[in-house]
Amino acid sequence: MPATPLEVENLSAGYGPTRVLEDISFSVPSGARLAVLGRNGMGKTTLLATLAGQTKRYDGRIRIGDTDVTGMPSASRARKGLGFVPQARCVFPTLTVEENLFVGLKDRPKAALQEAYDMFPRLHERRRNLGSQLSGGEQQMLSTARSILGRPSILLLDEPLEGLAPVICEELMKAFAELAKTGDMTIVLVEQRIQSALDFADQVIVLERGRVAWAGTPQALSSDHDAVERLLGVGGLH
Ligand SMILES: Nc1ncnc2c1ncn2[C@@H]1O[C@H](COP(=O)(O)OP(=O)(O)OP(=O)(O)O)[C@@H](O)[C@H]1O
Ligand SMILES: [Mg+2]
Repeated sequence: MPATPLEVENLSAGYGPTRVLEDISFSVPSGARLAVLGRNGMGKTTLLATLAGQTKRYDGRIRIGDTDVTGMPSASRARKGLGFVPQARCVFPTLTVEENLFVGLKDRPKAALQEAYDMFPRLHERRRNLGSQLSGGEQQMLSTARSILGRPSILLLDEPLEGLAPVICEELMKAFAELAKTGDMTIVLVEQRIQSALDFADQVIVLERGRVAWAGTPQALSSDHDAVERLLGVGGLH
């Protein structure tokens, strides 16, 4: 499936009676890379979960390409090409690494597994181990690799670098950039490693208390020291 654009209009959502997101709008063109930043508890995970159809939506619309997916259940959004790698990794504990990856293949041939092993050689070494026997970082790799194998046209990544060693982070960000560059995927990345996110993205939104408090290019955010300090709580970026 080729990359598709993502459009979000005046989205408000939350959990039951708890409103978390208020009036969020943005659009990501086909093949573009959006970074979603913000301090803890500001609504980043809730935004991705809402795009994936896993929260309560009060208002607004979500479009994937020409399709309005606003009222669609999660599984239908996935069939429309939406891939979601949640912050809480979901690895099947009683399946092996390879069996976990099979699940992600959908209708693709078994040979495509090699793509996952090229991206994460560690998974190849551990392919016969059970999901429950993996370290946190390995589960992270497996969860990400499984989503990518399904070739989503829009990929939502919730802190994919969390718990990974620096050298793997670098490789992974390169792999994500490659995926976006080939025009195969539109990527929305939530990340606490701000510099990595800014190096990767071509546009950024910063959430504060469930609202878009800042939107622009990574370059503009890097030079807006006031916004960086106020919204991200860090003294500066290098
Ligand atoms: N299942 C839930 N039910 C009720 N409130 C929730 C639920 N999940 C999250 N929240 C609340 O929604 C707000 C936003 O949480 P969210 O997980 O989206 O933040 P986040 O920006 O992803 O934070 P972090 O950087 O810590 O991952 C928080 O106040 C949180 O307590
Ligand atoms: Mg989160």
